[in-house]
Amino acid sequence: MSTISRLLLILLAIGGGVVYRQLNELWGDVPAPTLDAQQWWGKEASPKDYTAYLAKTSKVLDSPLAYPESTLKDLRQQLNRTLRLAPPLQGVAFQYGFNSDYLKELVAYWRDDYLPRWREREAFLGQFNHFTTEIQGLNTHFLHLKVKDEHKVGKQHYAILLLHGWPGSVREFYEFAHLLHQTQLDANNKYIFDVIAPSLPGYGWSQGSARPGFGPAQMTVILHNLMMRLGYKKFFVHGGDVGTIVGSHMATLYPENVLGFHSNMCTNLSPKSQVKGWLANLWPSFFAPSGYEDFFFPKSKEASFMIEESGYFHLQATKPDTVGAALTDNPVGLAAYILEKFSTWTNASYRALPDGGLTKRYTLDALFDNVMIYYLTNSITTSQRLYAESWSNAQRALNLERVPTSVPTGCARFKGDLMQFLDTQLEDKFRKLIHSTYYRRGGHFAALEVPKVLYEDVIEFIKKVETL
Ligand SMILES: *[C@@H]1O[C@H](CO)[C@@H](O)[C@H](O)[C@H]1NC(C)=O
Ligand SMILES: *[C@@H]1O[C@H](CO)[C@@H](O)[C@H](O)[C@H]1NC(C)=O
Repeated sequence: MSTISRLLLILLAIGGGVVYRQLNELWGDVPAPTLDAQQWWGKEASPKDYTAYLAKTSKVLDSPLAYPESTLKDLRQQLNRTLRLAPPLQGVAFQYGFNSDYLKELVAYWRDDYLPRWREREAFLGQFNHFTTEIQGLNTHFLHLKVKDEHKVGKQHYAILLLHGWPGSVREFYEFAHLLHQTQLDANNKYIFDVIAPSLPGYGWSQGSARPGFGPAQMTVILHNLMMRLGYKKFFVHGGDVGTIVGSHMATLYPENVLGFHSNMCTNLSPKSQVKGWLANLWPSFFAPSGYEDFFFPKSKEASFMIEESGYFHLQATKPDTVGAALTDNPVGLAAYILEKFSTWTNASYRALPDGGLTKRYTLDALFDNVMIYYLTNSITTSQRLYAESWSNAQRALNLERVPTSVPTGCARFKGDLMQFLDTQLEDKFRKLIHSTYYRRGGHFAALEVPKVLYEDVIEFIKKVETL
């Protein structure tokens, strides 16, 4: 080798090393941050003596639902105003957003069919025990289905934490919870679960933070405190949408407590994962399992879909309170804003249907239960703030998507969902991705849409965890 080539080789090696180091700075693994388990988010000043505070407030209180007649009358009147909705453009269904002709029909249904039956709906929502407990200054609500000792005999018993998303609520999990908890005891089914389904702080009956800085990581701390308070030291976690982010953080920050993390929308938004996704686009058949390439590719199609459908995201990530003000005292607008997501995120082709295909996969009662939860608890603004907090510099500086976790992870992908990640993208973070499945039917709200399919997927995942 000539001196010149030797010199070039050395330079190349040094250059390669530098580039590798730079890239690693940008996207290599980072250690898990430590979050303050007593950080205070309440309206009042933080307590001087936290131990005394804990002793005073760590009680779990029963919290049945019982809304006064006056609240319902007020809503009925709001739904009985003359609607000044602009008619939809000719030939347009849901492509410009919620179709206003159909919205009128839905408002009539809500007012004249659903609301008169509210006490029945209230009993439905109250079929599981509702509890609240104060954590770090915030009143935190959860459903708790506890298996009786005599029902554990001959069964494999676990606890599972269910994390909903936006614009969802604990209502997404009612049918799913019945299956997990075996409310209809089935001698042939070995698995039985204590189900803990919190309203995420700021969502539904859980109080939102009074202070800025409350992002998904801080939410995870509260929900971890909840599980510890209830005495669950080992549990499974399942989540979708925002619940996926929180579930992933739970596995990342508290691996000693999480037996396994299952999600119906596994994501890894790290820079490396994004780059991998686009590189994989050059050779789909190499990266995607045979027969499922269309879940991921072409990336350009996914990207343009995301641009079309993520306006809400940018809005909520920047000005959640302004859009919140527009929705808070306007139940008609609130229903349109929420239910549009249940149409498009279930199946994008439903945008071409005059009724958004809303009743193809859901009952109107289930959809309005969810809208009612946002309305009655006045939580649309607080729920939307999470987007702003997710994208704050402080939250991003935690770099949680670059902290790997060795908690066993399972991913169920539903074709109608918003985005899909390849195993190779997910494995940067989830080092034990042991379960990866594909379903042609079903979308973003899998727990509500296909509870049985999701349930069976969770059980399949848990069986794999057991063999580890
Ligand atoms: C709506 O308003 C009309 C007329 O103002 C009234 O007759 C009707 O009872 C109201 N309906 C409800 C459900 O409040
Ligand atoms: C979406 O709807 C279309 C038309 O009804 C159907 O062919 C397709 O399978 C649906 N996709 C999913 C994921 O359910």
